[in-house]
Amino acid sequence: MNNQSSSLDLSHFPVMLNEVIEISSPSNGGKFIDCTFGGGGYSKQLLKFPKTIVNGLDRDKTVNVIAKKLENKFPNRFKFHQVKFSKLDTISNDFVDTVIFDLGLSSIQLNDLERGFSFKSSKDLDMSMGLSQISAKDVINNLSEINLKLIIKILGEEKEASRIAKNIIKFRSEKKITKVKELVEIIEKSKKKNYVSKINPCTKTFQAIRIFVNKEITELINGIINATKILKPGGKILVVSFHSIEDKIVKYLFSNFSTNKSNPSRYFPDNESENTVLFEKYKNKIIKPTKKEIDQNYSSRSAKLRYATRSRNEFKYPVKLIEKFQKYLDLESIDV
Ligand SMILES: C[S@@+](CC[C@H](N)C(=O)[O-])C[C@H]1O[C@@H](n2cnc3c(N)ncnc32)[C@H](O)[C@@H]1O
Repeated sequence: MNNQSSSLDLSHFPVMLNEVIEISSPSNGGKFIDCTFGGGGYSKQLLKFPKTIVNGLDRDKTVNVIAKKLENKFPNRFKFHQVKFSKLDTISNDFVDTVIFDLGLSSIQLNDLERGFSFKSSKDLDMSMGLSQISAKDVINNLSEINLKLIIKILGEEKEASRIAKNIIKFRSEKKITKVKELVEIIEKSKKKNYVSKINPCTKTFQAIRIFVNKEITELINGIINATKILKPGGKILVVSFHSIEDKIVKYLFSNFSTNKSNPSRYFPDNESENTVLFEKYKNKIIKPTKKEIDQNYSSRSAKLRYATRSRNEFKYPVKLIEKFQKYLDLESIDV
């Protein structure tokens, strides 16, 4: 371990904490799953209510240190599992009251320059959140030009994906790309100068590679389906998302598998709609951080919170969700 890792900053500012806690209504107790434990912001707050039982999940073993302290403080009410949230239905046989997802990276991960998530890093290209099969280095050095282009274009929504992919291939024909700064240079050279845009030219490509390394879309789709499966009738699923692909998926599940009295069979034929109602009437409401929160924590600016309430209907697998987003699942399953 070097100095950088030993002095690891283990803090993360929880996004929309008050809103998440209010919707989760822990004052009556109940069973909660915090699928993205991170710095433990939500779990710590839920545990302040004496009748709550919380399971915290995270794929990143770094947060074990924080989780252990909570396990020691609340031995009968808190348990941590280092597992991907797509497997949340395997941690217990109990139905639960609330499942919370706060997607993406934590500040703990972003600020640890060893892990190569930040463009400021001088370290190796890694970008694994934990429990990943591949690293960013594998992706950048092994994928074909066409697959790199597709990943950068679709997962990063990057308009200049073609030129970036071409230049990655050109660079690596001379030398293996191992460092974050090499990728940063390639992207900067590939992109047209944009004097108006405030976002870093590398943001979208880095997002795409990170999503691909961690199979984030596949995780999200399976995670929210399995959360729906284990929720009690009346239980709540909450998702804080940070980019449009995530929000599109969450919105599709909540609105198309809920009762919608004004337009009951807009998406499915009548006989099918009854069976696929997994949520009570969904209001399609997005909750965003207040200006005060954004001023305090700039990284919260793109967060969107959606939540839905589980209906009494028996769980039926939402096949149409998979069909609708199959292109992302196919993309993330490209062999490296
Ligand atoms: C934005 S942070 C959560 C912060 C947390 N809500 C807090 O208040 O401290 C996201 C966390 O979720 C974890 N994560 C992301 N995708 C995951 C997945 N598929 N399975 C398990 N954990 C995941 C990341 O490792 C990261 O620690």
